[in-house]
Amino acid sequence: MNRSIGIHDIEIGTTHHVVDLADLAVARGVDPDKFRIGLGQDQMSFPAPDEDIVTMGAAAARALLARTGADGVRTLLFATESGIDQSKSAAVFAHGLLGLGADVRAVELKQACYAGTAALQMALGIVARNPAEHVLIIAADVARYALDSAGEPTQGAASVAMLVSADPALLEIDPVSGVFTADVDDFWRPNDSSTALVDGKLSMSAYIDALLGAWDDLQARGGVTAADIAAFAYHQPFTKMAAKAQRRLAAHLGAELADDDLVAMSTYNRRLGNSYTASLYVALAALIDARADLDGRRVGLFSYGSGSVGELLTARVLPQGGREDRSARVSRMLDARAPLPIAEYERLHALSYPSGTDTETPRTTTGPFRFAGIRGGARQYEHIG
Ligand code: COA
Repeated sequence: MNRSIGIHDIEIGTTHHVVDLADLAVARGVDPDKFRIGLGQDQMSFPAPDEDIVTMGAAAARALLARTGADGVRTLLFATESGIDQSKSAAVFAHGLLGLGADVRAVELKQACYAGTAALQMALGIVARNPAEHVLIIAADVARYALDSAGEPTQGAASVAMLVSADPALLEIDPVSGVFTADVDDFWRPNDSSTALVDGKLSMSAYIDALLGAWDDLQARGGVTAADIAAFAYHQPFTKMAAKAQRRLAAHLGAELADDDLVAMSTYNRRLGNSYTASLYVALAALIDARADLDGRRVGLFSYGSGSVGELLTARVLPQGGREDRSARVSRMLDARAPLPIAEYERLHALSYPSGTDTETPRTTTGPFRFAGIRGGARQYEHIG
């Protein structure tokens, strides 16, 4: 008999600061409705100087492990495209901050926004091989584009921590998925650039190609059909992209797909902004937190990473408690962020800490971990509480 394997628990983290997109619109001389309605975004999280993917990711994982414990965790996978080192993985920094044992392997994965799903697939394989093992996944990113560029209002930052196990409490992942890979120059970040280069319109059409291609592959491999899927969650570079995707998928299927899941799925992303690898799993959490009626039913999850790889997974939502708790925690976290005036956001956007100079970062974050600075070329992290 195939054992049930999937996501046992999920937790979201973000940054100390937030930028209101209405303020950004005024500063850029743009109608605020372009961002609010045209892109479907209200706010974007922004890191303090002593925050990065490691501090955000470890904070979400710490909150998750406080509930689940770390027993059985044998692997930590860290998905990101905002890497802080070309060699040492963000996973090893997080492993240290979380106090995991030396017998827990740690590695970082990259393929633009798709890497969180690559981590999930790897985790499912590890657990299928030994159901006693658990895998801790962290997906964390800071989405950065140049100031005053078309991509600027689609920045953001967030992390997701997920525990993958046999007999999960939250979501049972179906064994068959659909995959679509194509070599496209729609979005990339060269090694010498702190901001991404993007052909925005090409990335939107490449996203749709990947969605439809992954759907067709799912069907060709005997995956579940549209009639079995009660709602979809999508990767959301901006939430309007999910509405466009759902419309195109419905036309491809020749079926109606209800829009009420789009609203539910977008509530956290609208306020966090793009979080690259974390974005789809933030959407998944928002969807299941808002929709108790999905218990026992199937959802479709579409993951897209520019460059490009797309994957369509399906999963059964398990009847569970705790959704109100997570929803309240996320709301509290989002409300607690410190608003950044645009001039201060622009100053922080330009800030960088070159590895050749020893530096101490200003103490700003109120999260449990902070990036303390650079010593001898190496990044230093510390616990706050
Ligand atoms: N009120 C309401 N909507 C408005 C508006 C207003 N005053 N002004 C413009 N809009 C709408 C446009 O009609 C458009 O909607 P549509 O796509 O449904 O037609 C939307 O706002 C965006 O406007 P557009 O002119 O296309 O935006 P842009 O060229 O400035 O940039 C992106 C949009 C997404 C291309 C850009 O933000 C980007 O490059 N982002 C990063 C890449 C990315 O996220 N890619 C996604 C796939 S991974």
